[in-house]
This record gives sequence, structure tokens and C-alpha cells, in this order.
Amino acid sequence: MGQSLLNEGMKVARTIPTMKEIRGELPEPVGFVPTMGYLHEGHLSLVRRARGENRSVAVSIFVNPTQFGPQEDFETYPRDAERDLTLLRQEGIDVVFVPEAEEMYPADFNSWIVVEGMTEMLEGASRPGHFRGVATVVAKLLNIVQPNRAYFGRKDAQQALVIEKMVNDLNMSPEIIVAPTVREPDGLAVSSRNVRLDPEERQAALVLWKSLSLAQQLRSGGERSADRIRQQMIALIEGEPRARIDYVSIADPESLRELDEIDRPALVSLAVRIGKTRLIDNVILDGAS
Ligand code: PAF
Repeated sequence: MGQSLLNEGMKVARTIPTMKEIRGELPEPVGFVPTMGYLHEGHLSLVRRARGENRSVAVSIFVNPTQFGPQEDFETYPRDAERDLTLLRQEGIDVVFVPEAEEMYPADFNSWIVVEGMTEMLEGASRPGHFRGVATVVAKLLNIVQPNRAYFGRKDAQQALVIEKMVNDLNMSPEIIVAPTVREPDGLAVSSRNVRLDPEERQAALVLWKSLSLAQQLRSGGERSADRIRQQMIALIEGEPRARIDYVSIADPESLRELDEIDRPALVSLAVRIGKTRLIDNVILDGAS
């Protein structure tokens, strides 16, 4: 199927030629929000921002197989295309690109984008090949959709840096906009994976935000040692029996190199498994004083 016209004019493109054809007719500037679907308030905040800053908005829904490792949750990643399309229709989106994997990666697909350096630590160290898959699919999506602006969430801080670097290094045209993390009222960062948490795990998952808040409190109390802050965060997380730490990092927000002393803004980021669900989150600590 190529394109179908839904009510209120939102178009759904399932093939690359259809997406390109619709793009050619969109009034500029075009804002673009790439997603893996199972939309939540974080995605919708990006969509609303894109709506406010552009004459047209495109969204993609594609659970990208190449950014998942063999032991990761590609098969079980939450999906609900019909619900997603209904939400996007309500947001007044112009076009949604929903390709199948074969459309994006035909059998003879053989070209990959590797952003070196900053992809070797944090998520890159825990998930080998992840950013190769992310950079490649985002480059493909940007080439297909040709947006003037593309929107990403700050929750995936390293991903945002990798995409900014790729766009800059490869002289790609879209402006990359990174928007703040959206949180539940109790502080948990919204994520498609939160749906997998049972009620006890949902409560236990608060340990991510609690440990980030602790880092902020320690820093505003004058603590400058990254190691002391990290150790206190680790102790807090280890107090939660359902949590298993993947990493806790306090790093330079641009190079992602670990800091000893917080004498400039610092990115505090962490990945923690709650039961079978791996969650990530981050905050920026102030470097002043
Ligand atoms: O952040 C995500 O949802 C994905 O990594 C992205 C950017 C849509 C690429 O598949």
C-alpha cells in the first residue's frame, strides 16, 4: 500500500517514494519527529514543538532493528500503530512515515554510518553497534523526509550528541533541536519501555530520578568531586533490591569524557535495569561555584 488519506488530512506513507512525493508538496519549513512508536508525552511534546515552529510536520514510526543487539528487546519492544496514528491525527500532523523493515533495509543493503569516539562509552559500551544503527537510520530518515528541522529528546542525551555530530560532520542540512526530558509527576522520565514495569517495578524505577536529584542536591550543596557524587548515587540505587546498575557516569556534556572535578557543567547519566527493563535518564549539573 502506498498512501491513504485519513480524516483531517493526515497522510500515511508506507513506502519511500510515497513519502518523498508527499514531502514535495508540504509547505516549508517542515519539522520532523523520528520515533519508534508507542507514543507518549515525550514524543507528543516534540510533536507539539515541531507544530509550533514549522508550517508542516512529519513523524516517522519505525522500530529500527539495526539499533538493537541480538540479546535486546527488538521483538518485545511495545508497538501499537493504530493508537499512534490516532494520537498523531489529533495533533494535526501532516504526514506519518511508517515503513516496513524491508523498505528501509532491502536484502542488498550495505552502507552504514559510524560516528567514532563519542559512541564508544556509556550506551555505546553497553550496547555495541547501537549507535551505528541509530546514525544509519536517522541519516536515511533525514534523506527521505528532507526536513528543515528535526526534533529529539534530551533523555537520550548521547543519541542527541551523536546525531548532532553526524549532521555536522556530514554537512547535512536539517537543524537539530533537542528538547527537555518529559517526566511523570513523581519524576520518572517518560519512556515507551515504562509500560513493561509492573506496579512494584514502577515504584522501584523512581530510584533513577532519586539518584539524579541526589546528585543535584550534592552539587548545589557545594560538592565538586564527581567520584563522591557517583558513589552516593550508586549507594542509593543499590539500596533498591529490584535495581541493577549498568552505569552511572558524570561526564563532560560534549566529549562525554568522565570528569574528576565538576568545574564546568557536567552530564550525569545512568542506565539501570529494573527487573527485565533497562531504563536510562540524565540531568545536567551546574559547573559554577
Ligand atoms: O530515539 C528513538 O526513538 C530512536 O533511537 C530513533 C531516533 C527514532 C531512531 O530509531
